[in-house]
Amino acid sequence: MARKIIIDTDPGQDDAVAILLALASPDLEVLGITCVAGNVPLPLTSKNARVVCELAGRTDVPVYAGCDRPLARDLVTAEYVHGKTGLDGIELPEPQMPLQDQHAVDFLIETLRAHPAGSITLCPLGPLTNIATALQRAPDIAEKIAEIVLMGGAYFEVGNTTPAAEFNIHVDPQAAEIVFKSGVPLVVMPLDVTHKALTTRARVEAFRNLGTRVGHAVASWTDFFERFDMAKYGSEGAPLHDPCVIAYLLKPDLFTGRHINVEIETTSELTMGMTVADWWRVTDRAPNAMFMGDLDADGFYKLLTERIARL
Ligand code: RIB
Ligand code: CA
Repeated sequence: MARKIIIDTDPGQDDAVAILLALASPDLEVLGITCVAGNVPLPLTSKNARVVCELAGRTDVPVYAGCDRPLARDLVTAEYVHGKTGLDGIELPEPQMPLQDQHAVDFLIETLRAHPAGSITLCPLGPLTNIATALQRAPDIAEKIAEIVLMGGAYFEVGNTTPAAEFNIHVDPQAAEIVFKSGVPLVVMPLDVTHKALTTRARVEAFRNLGTRVGHAVASWTDFFERFDMAKYGSEGAPLHDPCVIAYLLKPDLFTGRHINVEIETTSELTMGMTVADWWRVTDRAPNAMFMGDLDADGFYKLLTERIARL
């Protein structure tokens, strides 16, 4: 029985690889892809998600547009990382598949209400605006969600957008606060673990050597995507953040972490969007998240390359 998931995303090259990994894996049934403003504005994220579905030959997967800006702050985008299209690195055809008419938030609420409790996992890969809006509009869905497995936040790695905040949480801290206080079981892939999922020449060439359109696209995206992080961190490669979420669903034992309390800074402008993770359990605040700290990077890339090869 395939695990039912909904991917909420702001593609972005790393989101695109995560979506491909999910679509290549029969262990997962992608009920829909909901798009949010983040790396690039909503018109582009909702276009890019369809580009990726068509690249994977999966135009059967419904794509929905959601919130076009954070709950309470101006939208901050990241073209400096992802390029002006959000999927720079390779030219791909304009999508032919339509966007669904239904708003992503209504799709999330309707789908969760229509399925048995605990049968759907949400996989947010961008700012948490859609998820928070759904929880606010329909509090009854909180107990319907099996688990939220998200990419966002940081503790030891601290911020990649401000000195204190990781991009997804920084864009919409109020949304993150709603999700982290929702009581829904959370699995968090912070920069602490995604910064250990670094591309290398060999890993990118393994994608290119698949000799497929998808392999070529993934190699081209990672070639483009890594230039920013390599310049900034002086690292050999770039972190493939979002595929960690899907890899966890497929092989959880690739990851290790701690079930701890994580709360979101939403008042200080200096540390706005920081994920305050009680990694050392120095408070009596109740644990609310499985916060990942390490992964088997070779195992991660082996899984990713094997699955991408199927498309
Ligand atoms: O900070 C990394 C996160 O921000 C990733 O999800 C990337 O796609 C961007 O959304
Ligand atoms: Ca993302």
